[in-house]
Amino acid sequence: MSDTPESHILVRDNGPLRVYGGVKLVDVEGNEYTVPEGESFALCRCGQSSRKPFCDGAHRTAGFDAPSDASKPVD
Ligand code: FES
Repeated sequence: MSDTPESHILVRDNGPLRVYGGVKLVDVEGNEYTVPEGESFALCRCGQSSRKPFCDGAHRTAGFDAPSDASKPVD
């Protein structure tokens, strides 16, 4: 991933969205979540996490099945 920009989001196969780089994560009211500075963090996309919007690993036991192939067109 040498061409990957510093800030980017990696869609994990059957798992979360891994966020890299300096980004601000806010709720609908504009309140800022505390995210690890200088480290990546994972956002849940399976809906099973008990600490949304962050991933807590529940996708593994939930059997979340969502490939991350970006080559498929979006409808
Ligand atoms: S993607 Fe990991 S708990 Fe939902």
